Amino acid sequence: MSSPSPTAGAAGAAPPPEAVGPLIRGLAVLRELAAADGRRSVGDLVRATRLARSTVDRVISTLSRTGYLRVEGRDAVLTPRLMELGNAYLSSCRLPDLLGPLADALADGLDESVSIAVPDRDGVRFVHQATRRRAMSLTFRIGDLLPAERGAPGALFAARWGEEDWRRWRERHAADPLDAGFPAVPHGRTDAGASFEERAAAAREQGWSADDQLIEPGLVAVAMAVRDAGGAPVCAVSVVSHTSRHSARSLREAVLPRLRDAVEAMADALKPVGQRRPAAPPAAGSAPASWTRASKQELGPEFVESLARGLTVLTAFDTAAGTQGGHGGSAELPLTEVAEATGLARATARRALITLEHLDYVERAPHDARLHRLTPRVLELGFAHLSGLTLPQITQPHLVELVGRVHDSASMAVLSGDDIQYVARVPTVRIMSVNITVGTRFPAYATAMGRVLLAGLPGPERAGILARTELQPLTLHTVTSAARLGDILDRAARDGYVLVDEELEEGLRSIAVPVHDRTGRVVAAVNVSLHAGRGTPEHARENLLPPLRETAARIEADIQVAGRYGRIAMG
Ligand code: PHB
Repeated sequence: MSSPSPTAGAAGAAPPPEAVGPLIRGLAVLRELAAADGRRSVGDLVRATRLARSTVDRVISTLSRTGYLRVEGRDAVLTPRLMELGNAYLSSCRLPDLLGPLADALADGLDESVSIAVPDRDGVRFVHQATRRRAMSLTFRIGDLLPAERGAPGALFAARWGEEDWRRWRERHAADPLDAGFPAVPHGRTDAGASFEERAAAAREQGWSADDQLIEPGLVAVAMAVRDAGGAPVCAVSVVSHTSRHSARSLREAVLPRLRDAVEAMADALKPVGQRRPAAPPAAGSAPASWTRASKQELGPEFVESLARGLTVLTAFDTAAGTQGGHGGSAELPLTEVAEATGLARATARRALITLEHLDYVERAPHDARLHRLTPRVLELGFAHLSGLTLPQITQPHLVELVGRVHDSASMAVLSGDDIQYVARVPTVRIMSVNITVGTRFPAYATAMGRVLLAGLPGPERAGILARTELQPLTLHTVTSAARLGDILDRAARDGYVLVDEELEEGLRSIAVPVHDRTGRVVAAVNVSLHAGRGTPEHARENLLPPLRETAARIEADIQVAGRYGRIAMG
């Protein structure tokens, strides 16, 4: 497929005269990075976007400043922070918040995977996954896009298509018969297209739609739509299984009654949607506009203010309080509220909205054209790729940065049984007698990271591990008294760090802090390890604890964003 000009809207139209060029170009760079699974050299970005090198450079420095990407050597790399754009869509559409728990309960009850997807033009985009994957090779991520004809949900949406929608679908299907434009699905010719119109008609008749291996061999699904008061499908709920357990038919027979009950309950749960909550006033002085002005003053021409401002317009739709401007927004906003939430002048906010509408990231509410809302297309800005990052992958660049500052090795570990296990590591010189790599295990009781992790456990779990563990002296300094270890863990919980000197190995000092998930649970520990001969423990505390804490806080900030609508895998 030939790629459209980077300035063209999703439908290929030229931008309107008020459109903000830098915002269009910045989003083109983000899309190219997303399509390349989050990493691309600057040279490749120049070629792919057909933008001037100096333009791409300025986009990259602006997006580095907003925290949406980082530069690694010659590559630009998307960061988890970028997921705040997709989070704004997911919170504003309310589907994961309102229907997610019902989908999870259905998946538990059926012991099969359940997903929620929304229509995105002639595609289908996933907004929630309750995964029970067993024999399956393929799992869609939140934000992944399917061609409507592949999979169960699309026929439910197409059942309502008009002639124009079908024309657009036929054109796309003819231009891209192998679905090369849909990186989330296995490529290759299927007969999914040939039968699509009949399946859409059948879905209209029956109220359900089946996927008999339209995506890949073995994968079967049945879906029903959750409808609004007017009967239009808001989203589709799919129950997904594998031919090793079910044929498409036996799956349908087994799950349809419960699926029907679930979508009815979901339609009920959606009823309050559409009632707008009054927006809270923006927090004084913290509006994104003042932040972008300060960045402009600091970075000069390398900071493209209109790009940064345009992106803050997307986050203004986030319904949660405490987004960039401290604004508790609502799902559908008039121009005035977008301007208020972002601190932008009305004219600036208006041009950003016009630009975002041109690119299909914003649309008008069907019931009131003065109201703007986000479209699921916002998720194409890297969300699917970033939602697949594991905790070690999220952590690694932060450890690299820490090691660059302190010049000692840094690691992350998690509890695994009664041991700690390394899941990420950035070494400098080797000071251990054993070579620590990802996967290395040590007894938790004798390590700083282990003590941080034990201190973070609920009392009974901690007690259980300690009761099982034989506190062996690994060096002359190892604490082997259970009572003393208990005191150390209590202090660790209070102080939020642990320093261990030569208890695991002579000559080795380690200082560790906890990493918390969104609920405040300790899920990992990060440490810096160094030679005990280099200065006093107090020296290590003074010099290493502050940067280590900053690193943990950055990892936790990423977890906050990345874990809001999806589960972050531990590794
Ligand atoms: C999925 O959620 O993975 C899924 C949904 C519908 C399908 C196939 C897979 O038709």
